Amino acid sequence: MWDYTPTVKDHFLNPRNVGDIVDADAVGEVGSLACGDALKLFLKLDENKEKIVDAKFQTFGCASAIASSSALTEMVKGKTLDEALAVSNQDIADFLGGLPEEKMHCSVMGQEALEVAIYKYRGMEMPAHDSEHDHGSAYPDYEGEIVCKCFGITDAFLKKVIETNALTTAEQVTNFTKAGGACGGCIPKIKDLIAQVLGEAEAKPRTRPEKLSNMKKMQLIQEVLERDIRPLLWTDGGDLELIDIDGSIVQVAFRKACAGCASSGNTARMVEAKLRDLVAEDIIVEEVSQ
Ligand code: FES
Repeated sequence: MWDYTPTVKDHFLNPRNVGDIVDADAVGEVGSLACGDALKLFLKLDENKEKIVDAKFQTFGCASAIASSSALTEMVKGKTLDEALAVSNQDIADFLGGLPEEKMHCSVMGQEALEVAIYKYRGMEMPAHDSEHDHGSAYPDYEGEIVCKCFGITDAFLKKVIETNALTTAEQVTNFTKAGGACGGCIPKIKDLIAQVLGEAEAKPRTRPEKLSNMKKMQLIQEVLERDIRPLLWTDGGDLELIDIDGSIVQVAFRKACAGCASSGNTARMVEAKLRDLVAEDIIVEEVSQ
């Protein structure tokens, strides 16, 4: 039996925004019944076609797939399309108070449906892959070469999930995407992709960008927290949650072993130094209790 948080249970038992929107502006569909989970997301925009005023979903899947979809629709209502695009699968999991790692693929599915809906609405490139893979593909809009034949998952999609979530083992990749979770034939290739992503990350010199739009700044702050900070805290049983970004003020709440730790002030300064190094030199990190 999975250990679900009260928020996951609540969103599973009382899902918000179930159904469809007949005159939806954007629709994103991911997963397939052959893969065990499927999600169709509907978005309605305001008259300026900027803000999401309504979001609904239809999901076939387990408790965490339904809870993740419900959470996603609540999270994106009131956001602009750019703000919605900045929602990561980790944000969905955080909104729910966490998901068992084996169920993280449900949050990934939600984030992908959102991305597909917005990309398609904007007419941006989401090239369909080779039609021979259409049947049973979990992410039919994602380009690349199919790595996991059982779930129809491509290398481009796997690399994105590995990089975004700083995954380091094939087991984690299975938990986040399902790839490798059936026959296991693709696991050596998944390990190659992990090595490739780690190699690329090390080879890439990382410096502070000279100029950043507000949106890019927010995205980069989130990326540095996910990629550089949280994995470091996990090794000591700690964690943090991004609460808010207001200009250069970044508010974080420490979780698990870091919550209430006597040296959380030092940790906050370490986070600030890293963000100043990689995002912008005026960043101020504030610890909040939430
Ligand atoms: S090919 Fe990936 S699990 Fe079978």
